[in-house]
Amino acid sequence: MHIGKTLTNYIIETQRGIEGATGEFTGLLNDIATACKKIASLVDKGDLIGVLGAAGSENVQGEEQKKMDIITNEVFIEALENNGHVAGLASEEMEDVYNLAAGKPRGGYMVTFDPLDGSSNMDVNVSVGTIFSILKAPKGVENPSAEDFMQPGTTQVAAGYCLYGPSSIMVITTGQGVKMFTLDRDMGEFIMTRDDVKIPEDTQEFAINASNSRHWEAPVKRYIDECLAGKEGARGKDFNMRWVASMVAEVHRILTRGGIFMYPIDEKTRKAGKEGKLRLMYEANPMSFIVEQAGGASTTGRERILDIQPKELHQRVPVVLGSKNEVELVTRYHSE
Ligand code: AHG
Ligand code: MN
Ligand code: MN
Repeated sequence: MHIGKTLTNYIIETQRGIEGATGEFTGLLNDIATACKKIASLVDKGDLIGVLGAAGSENVQGEEQKKMDIITNEVFIEALENNGHVAGLASEEMEDVYNLAAGKPRGGYMVTFDPLDGSSNMDVNVSVGTIFSILKAPKGVENPSAEDFMQPGTTQVAAGYCLYGPSSIMVITTGQGVKMFTLDRDMGEFIMTRDDVKIPEDTQEFAINASNSRHWEAPVKRYIDECLAGKEGARGKDFNMRWVASMVAEVHRILTRGGIFMYPIDEKTRKAGKEGKLRLMYEANPMSFIVEQAGGASTTGRERILDIQPKELHQRVPVVLGSKNEVELVTRYHSE
């Protein structure tokens, strides 16, 4: 029996390859892993510890908060604010940047996170996740402002998510491919279970919330209609459909067996003055970094997500990501 490669082993190994690395990044990823282990344990206990249900409040985007949205946000902050690895944090659940209290040690990184993605799944015992993106803090800045966070996705130092499903799985990229680690609950360690994850270029599986179909724009409608027409239609093959309502679970499925995931902008969203549903800084950017590192593609339909210059912390974007050839087809339909 052998132990395998722990997440800590992997991070230390990666650090060795970076000249001048101080161990701060290693420390930061360890803090994130600690937060995710705690969240995995809370998700697992669920109703036993009374964490299901609504909190009775709304977040900055006017969405109803679940108890677990608030709890997981607090867990993430506690795990990250005391160890001197970050200069500031930003989260789906907080309107403004979270600055550390005076006297707390500062580090050179900033983290944006969605502490609980797919939180509407929590109460019905379906997969949820945590998404994070790591940016460099501007040199010498002790209390970063929202302005300091406005860096395009291409500048991310690392990104990842933890999926709380039948297993809890941490997926990370530092820009050198994508690695997966499965939580061994008895050991309390994430162990590497897949090295160099690659998304198949072709797929016959799509994920979209079809209840919005009457609002879709023409290119999206055309693409989905052709998928639905199957063997008899323009595509000449049958497609399968999935919708988990948790982006982490959709991306994980795509990393595992390919597929395309879409949350496009539609007429209804546009009329409401929104640019899409998903948020750039802590959903679209980290997931796009992972997907591209696994050989997939990620776009709004009109531009590469990682190239977008962010304008605000809670900015929304249309998202089309997954198997390269399908994403390229959707992009082509947008340009025609
Ligand atoms: P969150 O729970 O963090 O607000 O995110 C939910 C997101 C995303 O994960 C998922 O793909 C989508 O919203 C679900 O949208 P529908 O409610 O339209 O299914
Ligand atoms: Mn989310
Ligand atoms: Mn969330």
